[in-house]
Amino acid sequence: MADVTWTPEGEKLFAKLLAAVPEAMREPIKPKLIQMLAQRAGSGSIDEAAIKTMVQEDLPEPQKSALMQAIGMQAPPQQEGPVLEWSGKSEIMFELMLGEVPEGMRSIFRGKLSAVIAQKTQGGAVTDDHVNAVVNEIVPEPFKSNILKKFKTLGDFDPAIIAAIVERFGTSRDKLMFIMHAVQDEIGYLPREAMLAISDKTGIPVSAIYSVASFYKAFRLQRPGAHHVKLCCGTACHIHDTAGVGREIEHKIAASPGVSIEKTLCLGCCDCAPVVEIDGKVYKGAEAQAKIDSITLG
Ligand code: FES
Repeated sequence: MADVTWTPEGEKLFAKLLAAVPEAMREPIKPKLIQMLAQRAGSGSIDEAAIKTMVQEDLPEPQKSALMQAIGMQAPPQQEGPVLEWSGKSEIMFELMLGEVPEGMRSIFRGKLSAVIAQKTQGGAVTDDHVNAVVNEIVPEPFKSNILKKFKTLGDFDPAIIAAIVERFGTSRDKLMFIMHAVQDEIGYLPREAMLAISDKTGIPVSAIYSVASFYKAFRLQRPGAHHVKLCCGTACHIHDTAGVGREIEHKIAASPGVSIEKTLCLGCCDCAPVVEIDGKVYKGAEAQAKIDSITLG
């Protein structure tokens, strides 16, 4: 772009325009803007008029309206964003997406992006897939990667669950175990994303939460399978398992992807030892073997 020339006003307005572009995009987008301006200016210098025309006619929404406003142009009338019905994590994802937009431009983006989503939903509820599609189709790099990375921290559960539980127990560290148990009861296990969310809501370092989760056998870090087996490793069960039933069960479950296993301490039925708990019910002896066979073979 060495042969591009500017009028003093044009140069000043271009600097204002660039300043309004989010910092991470400023350098990558600068040559493209200059190229568009050079085409607009033809053989002349780039002046204010060329910049305004380029912004108004060459840029896509919602960037167009936001940048028109930033350089003092009359932006197209802002329509109230449509009222959307959210489902799953879609609303939180939408807010995360908006969080990447500079604050001064956020209201314009909110309205425009809501309208894009409304077109996709055709009157139905907004799903996670709708928001994902908007990010993938509209959002430029590096924002797209940042946003998609943040989406991954949400996990496959409704973050409102964590918020409600922390609200119930409070944020003090001595309530951490209660919070973790309640989250596991709701979600079925304690995924990494849930621990991050607990940390975020309580201010307790995630390393401390992970230490507790990995220390106590009561917490499950892996998603339970369609069937969940608790293999008792308490003293009575260990001593009475002369036939190696526990080991056999472990082998069968290892070869059955839909069945998860958790080694646990005393299940409270020592007089029937050795025992296993399968989907919440305690079995012993031949009954346990038959049930294990039915879920691993069936
Ligand atoms: S040790 Fe297994 S039930 Fe008590």
